[in-house]
Amino acid sequence: MKNLILIVDDVAENIQVLGKILSDDGYDIAVAQNGMDALEMVENVKPDLVLLDVMMPGMNGITVCRKLKEKEQYTNLPVLFISAKSSTEDKLEGFNAGGADYIAKPFDSAEVLARVKTHLKLREAMEQVEQYNKNLEHLLRERTKSLITAERNAAFSLFSQGIVHNLKNPITIISNGVQLLEMKYEMLPLDDNSNPESISQLKEFIDYSSKYYKKFHNANNQMLNMLNNLMAKVRSDSEIDARVLNLNELLEQEIQFFNADLQFKHSTKKNIELTSEPLYVKVVPGEVNQIFQNLLRNALDAMYDQEDARIDIRTYRKDTRACFSIRDNGPGIPREVQENIFDPFFTTKPKAGSGDGPTGTGLGLYMVKSLVENYEGVLTLNSEPGQGTEFIVSFPYVKPTYSVN
Ligand SMILES: Nc1ncnc2c1ncn2[C@@H]1O[C@H](COP(=O)(O)OP(=O)(O)O)[C@@H](O)[C@H]1O
Ligand SMILES: [Mg+2]
Repeated sequence: MKNLILIVDDVAENIQVLGKILSDDGYDIAVAQNGMDALEMVENVKPDLVLLDVMMPGMNGITVCRKLKEKEQYTNLPVLFISAKSSTEDKLEGFNAGGADYIAKPFDSAEVLARVKTHLKLREAMEQVEQYNKNLEHLLRERTKSLITAERNAAFSLFSQGIVHNLKNPITIISNGVQLLEMKYEMLPLDDNSNPESISQLKEFIDYSSKYYKKFHNANNQMLNMLNNLMAKVRSDSEIDARVLNLNELLEQEIQFFNADLQFKHSTKKNIELTSEPLYVKVVPGEVNQIFQNLLRNALDAMYDQEDARIDIRTYRKDTRACFSIRDNGPGIPREVQENIFDPFFTTKPKAGSGDGPTGTGLGLYMVKSLVENYEGVLTLNSEPGQGTEFIVSFPYVKPTYSVN
């Protein structure tokens, strides 16, 4: 495509000379004879470059250029001043107004063409770089989004594994029990129930059955409980609208769910203190679940393989804020690391797929911080090396104006 050049000069002869030089070299030409027209033309014909006379009656070239450069869409549009006088001061004024170069009168056609070509190339290069940057930003945003989703899915699949593991226990109780009862049943003297021996055998079987009946009942309740928790969690995780709810109930559900995590369930000492008064907040439940999950996961990761691992989870109300805190007695976070932990992709853990220990993407705290701040919430970190780590999340407390279920 041909480049379009706008020539602005009040002297018709100048326009003719410049126009000929440029059109002979294959450029398209548009012209304006005063400043006001020039501004309008730029909007309408969208030139690739402007040749602008400095001295014009009415609005002079410097002012035209300044007005153009006030608009963001013209920052890359090259404006070359045409001027007979060329003191350094004049040139500086032009450059300060956003001009890219000067072309001296009378015109030397080779010089005009060389300068025009250079500035068109520069502009093209600049636009390419801007386009690259835009693409990169877009890619980064998309990639971050998909990694965050992947991290959530990974967390969920870990939970599912834990739940399957926890289901094994009651299922084993039931299937072993059924087998045992079947065996005993087959050995019963069902045809002969007259002698005392067989009567006591039958009695024994009834005792056995009633004992197992209770065991089955418990195992069944355990499984139902787990499934109910799972369903409630899936439901609250997939809610997308904010609603008023009791923070304590939400956290209780999440803590229950963390029992599917073997490290949390078996090798971590837990101290959980939730206020007896409800702590009403207006949130998207799934988002608070994510915040809590990430903070608790990090605490567990920090204490992986630690003998006396301990976690304190606490909720409390502080004036107009509803807060929860998660404290661990892990290694703590050094000052210089604290500055970086909220940055996307900052992690001190190895990538997934390397060894059995905790792995990281570095997206957890970045996500937590942005979610918390969406609610005008505050995320506070207290940590010293060797003293463990505490994260506090505070949300605005809302007074419920209607009944909350
Ligand atoms: N409770 C904690 N104790 C010690 N270090 C922590 C704790 N929570 C977070 N960190 C540090 O912050 C880093 C970033 O955490 P996060 O953004 O969740 O990413 P990831 O868990 O994937 O590494 C972790 O790699 C870890 O070094
Ligand atoms: Mg994490």
